[in-house]
Amino acid sequence: MSVPHLIEFSKIGSPALGYITVGENSTLPFAVQRVYWTYYTPDSVIRGHHAHHDLEQLIFATSGRIEFVLEGLDGKSETFVLDSPNLGLYIPRLYWRTIKFSHNAVLMCLASKEYSEEDYIREYDEFKALAANV
Ligand code: TYD
Repeated sequence: MSVPHLIEFSKIGSPALGYITVGENSTLPFAVQRVYWTYYTPDSVIRGHHAHHDLEQLIFATSGRIEFVLEGLDGKSETFVLDSPNLGLYIPRLYWRTIKFSHNAVLMCLASKEYSEEDYIREYDEFKALAANV
């Protein structure tokens, strides 16, 4: 599916023992080439403000709560909330995102490609210009 969506991963365990969540080739939406995580983001800060030409991402809030607003080339925006460590947000290529974090949030991103600054669209006008061409 090439629209953003939440994927609920298995949650193995119990309230008494705690939980394990697993992602593996058979349950991940793409082959993972890179993992990064962000943390200590002040809850007053909005991050993101970019889209990617080719990158696909699967994002978890391994701790805390993270809110994404994703805008597609059709100009429509949708809000997704990650508030459980077993919930992943799949983001296809070409979605403009803004991200808000709770003070304790840890964002873990699984990505389909290694880091490349050329893959970023960091100017909103450039993103909107792409939309005009589809
Ligand atoms: P960026 O993706 O712009 O973060 P955010 O959207 O959360 O503000 O990345 C922030 C900085 O980190 C930027 O200078 C690029 C660098 N960076 C890497 O060097 N490698 C990576 O894999 C990532 C994700 C970022």
